[in-house]
Parts: sequence; C-alpha cells; structure tokens
Amino acid sequence: MTIQISTLLKQHRQEHVLKFYNELNENSKAKLAEQLKALPWNNLDELISQYVINYPKISIPEDLQPAPFFPTEPDSDATAELYQQARAEGVRLLQNGRVSFLMVAGGQGTRLGFDGPKGTYPITPVKGKSLFQYFSEKIRHFGEKYGVEFTWYIMTSELNHEATTQFFADHEFFGLDQDQIVFFTQGTMPAFDNSGKLLLSAKDSLALSPDGHGGTLLALHRCGCLERMRSEGVEYLSYFQVDNPLVSIADPLFLGLHALEQSEMSAIMLAKTGPFEKLGNFCISGGRLQIIEYSDLPDALAESRNPDGSLRFIAGSPAIHILNRSFVEKLTASGQLNLPWHRADKKVPFINDCGELVNPETPNAVKLESFIFDALPLASKTMILEAVREEEFAPTKNKTGVDSVESCRMMLIERDALRLERAGVKIARDTDGKAKYPIELSPAVIIDDNDAIEYCKEKQISDLSKTETAIYLG
Ligand code: UD1
Repeated sequence: MTIQISTLLKQHRQEHVLKFYNELNENSKAKLAEQLKALPWNNLDELISQYVINYPKISIPEDLQPAPFFPTEPDSDATAELYQQARAEGVRLLQNGRVSFLMVAGGQGTRLGFDGPKGTYPITPVKGKSLFQYFSEKIRHFGEKYGVEFTWYIMTSELNHEATTQFFADHEFFGLDQDQIVFFTQGTMPAFDNSGKLLLSAKDSLALSPDGHGGTLLALHRCGCLERMRSEGVEYLSYFQVDNPLVSIADPLFLGLHALEQSEMSAIMLAKTGPFEKLGNFCISGGRLQIIEYSDLPDALAESRNPDGSLRFIAGSPAIHILNRSFVEKLTASGQLNLPWHRADKKVPFINDCGELVNPETPNAVKLESFIFDALPLASKTMILEAVREEEFAPTKNKTGVDSVESCRMMLIERDALRLERAGVKIARDTDGKAKYPIELSPAVIIDDNDAIEYCKEKQISDLSKTETAIYLG
C-alpha cells in the first residue's frame, strides 16, 4: 500500500479497510489499492456528512410549476409548420450522420429478478428476441433507411460488462458491424455503513456499485467516446434505457425540434396515467427545467389539478433524451461532473471485523447514484416533446404487473397489431379488443407504418384474421 493511500485512509478515518491487507496475495493487494486510489478523496468526508450521516433534505422549490411542452399533435398552424420543418431537419441530421445512439445498460435489474444483463432478457412475444437483439435490428434498419453506419454507444457497468460484450460477440453483433458498437463502462461508488464507514465486500475489495446513469456523462469523456463522436462529425446523442424496447430512438420530429429550438438537452414526455405513476415529473423552478422523481414529489402537488380536472403535473419522463455532444463536453471538460447525489438505503453483503461475510436481512448500507436528468437544469436551453405512450414506452422493470415483462409484451403486440391494421391488414381480435394471437413485426424489416405498408404489399398480405397461431413478419 502506498504511503499516500495509507495517509489518506488515516486522515479520513477509514483505515479499517486494510484490516485483512497483510493476509492478501500480491494480486489482491494491488486490486484493493487500485480501488482505494480511485475513491473521490477530495470530497469524501463531505459526501459522507451530506448524504450518509445526515439524510439529504429534498427541498421542493416554492415556485415549482409544471413544465411546458410541445404537444404530440400541433395545436396551431404555426406549430404545424414548425413540426414539418423539424421533421425535415431531423431526417437531414440522420442522413448526414450527425446522430449517434446512446443506451444505458449498466443497472442491476434487481426488480426483474433475472440473472444476467437486462439486455439479454428474451423479451419479444413470438421469437423471444433479447432486448439487445431488438435494438440491434432497429439500428441496422435505421442505417439502411438513412444510408449511414450509425455508432451505438452502450454503457455497461463492472457488474455486467463482460457478460454484455460476450453476448454480443456470441451473436455476431446481431448483424451490425462490430466497429459500430462501442461498449464503455460507467464508474463506481463505494457503499457506506450508516456511520459513514466504507464497506468491504471481500477482504480484497470495497463494496462498489454503479454510480447511476448520471455517470454516463463522465464515462463518455473518460472512455474517449466524445472524441470519437467529434471525429465522426456527430453532434447529437439519442439517449434511451435498455428496459424500453418500444422507444423509437431515431424520431425525426424529436431530433429536428431539438435542433431548431437550439436546445442543449431535450426530453420526451408522456401524460401520466395517474398522480402517482412511477415516472419522474417535469417541473420548472427559477426558469430552469428539472425532473423531480416520483418518490420526491409531495402528494399534494402530485394530486393537484387544473380547473378542467386534468393533473397539473401531468408530464412524466420515460427517460428518453437528446443531448448535444458539445453540452456533454462542456459538463465534463474538467474531468469532474457536478451532479447531485441521490441516496438509496440497500442491503449490501459485507465482511465484518472477524473477516466473515454477512448477508443482511434489512438495509444496512447507503449507496449513492447520480441521475442523468439532473443535467437538465445545467442546459442553456431545453425542450420537451409529448409522445404517444403506446408507441414509445413499454418498460420492462418487474416480472409481473405494472411495467413488467407481461405488460411490455402486450404493448409490443398491440403496437404491431395497430401497425398492421393501419397497413390495411385484417387481424383477429378477441371480444375484449385484444389481438387474439401474439403478433411480432421484426424491426429488421418493419420499423414504421410505411415499412408495414410496403412489406405487406410486396408479400401480398391483407388478411391474417384466419391465422390461428402467433404471427411473425420478418
Ligand atoms: C427511471 C427514472 C425515472 C423514469 C423511468 C422511466 C431514475 C432514477 N428514474 O426509473 O425518472 O421515469 O426510469 O422508465 O432513473 N442504469 C445504468 N447505470 C446505473 C443505474 C441505472 O446504466 O448505475 C440504467 C439501467 O440499466 C436502466 C436505466 O438506467 O436502463 C434506468 O434505471 P432504473 O433503476 O431501472 O430506473 P427507474 O427507477 O426504473
């Protein structure tokens, strides 16, 4: 252990992490030393005091107002004209290779109870394609449509990097060029016990966990992704989460509006299904856009209504953004990123003073994460566009119930059923209106209504209502 690290540990009253150091072999010693070196030493005590020993106070600004947004359908002639221009601009940006895709996939997916990276989960209703395959096929198809080899940045974490890259390699990158996919790993944060002491997960390791999707921005800087984007002439990042296969990822209207409005960071919003839907809430305070998490918005505000009975804070976040590359460069230029931390009390297995592994049954530790949407108030200009939920958002968070594998598959089926119907194809529906058999349109061939029309015309498909099995077109 270097003298410098030993001194730092002493100064910060964290020497206990070296308790088993002398028992370790050289590799293990080096591993622990490496982890200790990477700790945020310059503000460690401040972090502990502000977020661990004391509960961070969530202060809701007095001037908090619902954020304005562009509606899905234009509400005036001027907006209609703006949307038309924006769509054309969006297409131009895509065709000119100004856009890259950025997917965050570093989370643990604990709620899904699935052992492995969430992206490997077999989500599609007929073929059981994984989330990774589904996104890969979309990106391949967009590439063909716009004549561009889009680069796809995938953020992993130390927990799943190996398994994620192996999965892609095992499947030959799902038909994408290997060089089109850039895997980069987010940073970690240590877990603390409630008195602010660092926890060990093994004698040679701190208990570390991913630093939240806010860590994306710094990781893009650290891993050289921003440089690659710049060298490829990429100006815009289309950001989405691995858990949402429905997301359109290359929506010309969203991209074009972002550019025409000169926004630095934009967001898609959905009308919430009720006051307490588990979505972040778009709010304005001091003229700045911010998202207040569902767990932090006071009930009285969540439930407050407009005179016409609609929710005042109606705008929920499906975590779909566009960020300017230059905005991310600006935020991370110093090699540091100043986003607030969010505390989570969790059960974290740890090594006790006797060197035994303890699996706690109740939360024993504090984890800290930063959130990407906390960058919104730092943007000089922002923009929000409303989207149609059925076409944009089907998150896979839980095994059953709300935001589950089940609900996600149902939404994928319904989106594809409607797409076929709009293409003039008859399908069988139950008395309750649901598609009678599962339907899946492969994004490798059908990604929008036009594709569906062309595909069905070419294959002379007009009536699938007599089909008594699952339908797969691809
Ligand atoms: C998140 C948003 C919420 C939004 C909702 C939409 C937060 C705190 N809240 O909720 O505002 O309405 O999605 O579905 O994010 N991830 C990483 N690294 C991490 C942590 C997460 O890459 O360290 C990724 C996950 O892989 C996932 C995404 O971020 O793709 C969201 O994480 P999750 O913890 O599932 O967020 P939610 O609480 O569901």
